[in-house]
Amino acid sequence: MPFDHNDHYHDLLLRELPRAGRRALDVGCGNGTFARKLALRGFTVDAIDADGDVIATAREQAGALELPADISFEQADITRLTLPPNTYDYISCLASFHHVPLETVEKLRESLTADGVLVILGCYRETTAADHAVSALAVPVNAAYRLAVFAREQLPAHRRSTLRRLPEAPVAAPRVSLAQIKEYASARLPHSEIRRLLFWRYLLVFRNGRGAGVR
Ligand SMILES: C[S@@+](CC[C@H](N)C(=O)[O-])C[C@H]1O[C@@H](n2cnc3c(N)ncnc32)[C@H](O)[C@@H]1O
Repeated sequence: MPFDHNDHYHDLLLRELPRAGRRALDVGCGNGTFARKLALRGFTVDAIDADGDVIATAREQAGALELPADISFEQADITRLTLPPNTYDYISCLASFHHVPLETVEKLRESLTADGVLVILGCYRETTAADHAVSALAVPVNAAYRLAVFAREQLPAHRRSTLRRLPEAPVAAPRVSLAQIKEYASARLPHSEIRRLLFWRYLLVFRNGRGAGVR
């Protein structure tokens, strides 16, 4: 198994799960790894992805498990989908937000419950010296992680041949810089927190209700 930058940050995203929450939406779910982790924590999950192949794999993988909560996998384009208002306690976008216009965040916010949480594990376009410096630092650390994962995942040859390669989730180059994302979030997601992560990602956390003085 390769070292996956999105999977690496799952625990960070799971720390933001609201304790009383029950329903989650995962946008651009890919092969469904994160959606399964949400279901394992008791969340009923709607997981959507625009790509039919990854949705088929996600359904198959989840169907082979006994999960404590349901996941509904749907092939859908978030930019065209009408989301029910005030419905989700937790909405996640893992490496998918840069595939869609920034304004998509509006419909995600509207679909959060009063205390709902939106988390975006995002990719950004590198434009500043700081972006390039962090990126350069990430390269050797990434190589070390890859080596460690490679060594740990070494399997006997007979087992390796039985492993199936999953379809790659579609990727896209990010067009928006971190500064632009911060500017947009400060206008449209008041009190959201954004921090840069090492492996070419940022984490945005928006807790609904904060701006209205609920918390
Ligand atoms: C880089 S992959 C990340 C997949 C998964 N979240 C992960 O962490 O591995 C981005 C995913 O977003 C999906 N995607 C792109 N545009 C989308 C859209 N408009 N609506 C829903 N999903 C979309 C792609 O099909 C792809 O599976």
